[in-house]
Amino acid sequence: MCGIVGYIGGKSATEILIEGLHRLEYRGYDSAGIAVRNGDGINLRKRAGRVGELVKLLDEQPVGGQLGIGHTRWATHGETTDTNSHPHIGGNGEVVLVHNGVIENYTSLRESLQVRGYVFNTTTDSEVIAHLIAHSLEERVRMGEDPHDRTTIRNALEVALKQLKGTYGLAILFRDHPDLLVAARAGSPLVVGVGQGEYYLASDSSPLVGHTDEVVYLDDHEWAFLSPEGMEIIHRDAGQRSPSIQTLDQVAGNIDLGEYESYMLKEIFEQPQSLENCLRGRIDDDAASAKFGGLNVDLHALRQIDRIVLTACGTSWHAALVGEYLIEEFARIPVEVEYASEFRYRNPPMTDQTMTFAITQSGETADTLAALRESRRKGHATLAICNVVGSTIAREADGGIYLHAGPEIGVASTKAFTSQVTALILLALYLGRMRHLSYPAGQRLISQLRNLPKLAEQTLKCNDQVEEIADRYFDRTNFLYLGRQYNFPVALEGALKLKEISYIHAEGYPAAEMKHGPIALVDEATPSVFVIPRGSIYPKVMSNLEEVKARKGPVIAVACEGDKEISAAADEVIFVPDVEDYMQPIVTSIPLQLLAYHIAILRGCNVDRPRNLAKSVTVE
Ligand code: G6P
Repeated sequence: MCGIVGYIGGKSATEILIEGLHRLEYRGYDSAGIAVRNGDGINLRKRAGRVGELVKLLDEQPVGGQLGIGHTRWATHGETTDTNSHPHIGGNGEVVLVHNGVIENYTSLRESLQVRGYVFNTTTDSEVIAHLIAHSLEERVRMGEDPHDRTTIRNALEVALKQLKGTYGLAILFRDHPDLLVAARAGSPLVVGVGQGEYYLASDSSPLVGHTDEVVYLDDHEWAFLSPEGMEIIHRDAGQRSPSIQTLDQVAGNIDLGEYESYMLKEIFEQPQSLENCLRGRIDDDAASAKFGGLNVDLHALRQIDRIVLTACGTSWHAALVGEYLIEEFARIPVEVEYASEFRYRNPPMTDQTMTFAITQSGETADTLAALRESRRKGHATLAICNVVGSTIAREADGGIYLHAGPEIGVASTKAFTSQVTALILLALYLGRMRHLSYPAGQRLISQLRNLPKLAEQTLKCNDQVEEIADRYFDRTNFLYLGRQYNFPVALEGALKLKEISYIHAEGYPAAEMKHGPIALVDEATPSVFVIPRGSIYPKVMSNLEEVKARKGPVIAVACEGDKEISAAADEVIFVPDVEDYMQPIVTSIPLQLLAYHIAILRGCNVDRPRNLAKSVTVE
């Protein structure tokens, strides 16, 4: 989390930094700050609160220059105060930096720097890095090195950064180098944008969109020295490297709100298009199967797989649960779904033929990245199902499937979830066709898959009705979400959406398990949202619904069009298209996204920036 932005060139750095911080605000919005270099030296402006607060400060105290760094914070160490906001100053102003990540040994480093006379103004772990680099510089100069020579900086960075335990993405300005912007990465993403006589720096590519489409993704322990003379990439151990410039394929329209009031609503309504993009070019009619360009695993190895581990966090973990049902049903391969945060510290039995898939929208989630690395370290083929092209996980995986959902900016994941499920359907089809799934069964699946974008569009028509339902229930304090089989993960996801953006307590449960505990919560004030589309277990879920009604619990049902029975049983019914059970998570999750959205709006919550959350969790 935390967003970093930097600029060096001929334009107004302040404007570029503020625009970049707005685009990066989804990564954290506890405070924001910039440091801009001009003839007066390095000028800091920082303030607790959203980027808008920083903009107000800049209106009162403007600052101009053509070199600068900026930061939007998701607090880990230290409260959200003006002082704790980034940038931080090291030594006597020799170093000014912004940091994303967590320094685990900051307490001991801080103590040893204090003994040496360094005065700390903040309670952050980041200020330690600033003082540490300043101290290393001071040592180099004492040893006779020239403070104006770049080699001195390189030497100082080498000594200082080696002492850090944890993760960092850093953008650094040096008092004695008026034309230099330095970036350093270990565990927290950074990307350099290459313009005409200018460079941009950011935690992800969104601030670069519209400015340049040439980018260099930094690897761990790489440093970028950016100046009017050019770009130098240095690896801490391997020395100088020639930058690998890649093309960014995003356009500004993708990250603009357009006619929508929030990114979340925009992204919910983008689902017909994002599903279309996920399916494009992946259907193999001749083989009645799916095809993928980037799996990078040979067919023989794929046929040998005897177990699959799906690892993920948050909403992506819910998609993984749907994936378990899909792959086991169509490919008959046993699947384990692991929270990435648990998997990374566990030692589950895995055979030589176990394959791991890391599922992630951002491709930067720290726990998912660590799980991927752990799986690769043990020698397993490790693939990613990922949305952000060029993200760390996408680059480190052996291969994988891109979602092509376009940028997801709203903190609560919506379109990424339905695209993940779609990618998993394609994967299950592909693995199934290598095993037991017959040609006609494959063809049938394909013809249904092709309808998905249209079905999503049809489903979205429930929006007005969902808004009315939200109006009747938005003041409740507890919700239950219940579903079975393919719709159990949907119940979990529906509950997660509601808590994330409306702060209402919500629990997702397998409908039949309700009677083993959650039923005690049922009363007149607690709505139960039943995901109850048609299918073989419909009567069973209906019995669970009746159990709630018998206890006077209000019921909101998500059911299939044409279901007459449900209208008599439930207080509210949201109808969705009637599809095969394995496609139900796509059509049943959409009304739940909308329900959470409208309830949150009615409660006056900021749906795109829910409290305490961040879109991209790059710390443990
Ligand atoms: C955060 C976000 C969630 C997301 C989760 C996993 O908690 O707020 O919306 O599902 O991270 O993110 P990933 O990018 O790995 O899918």
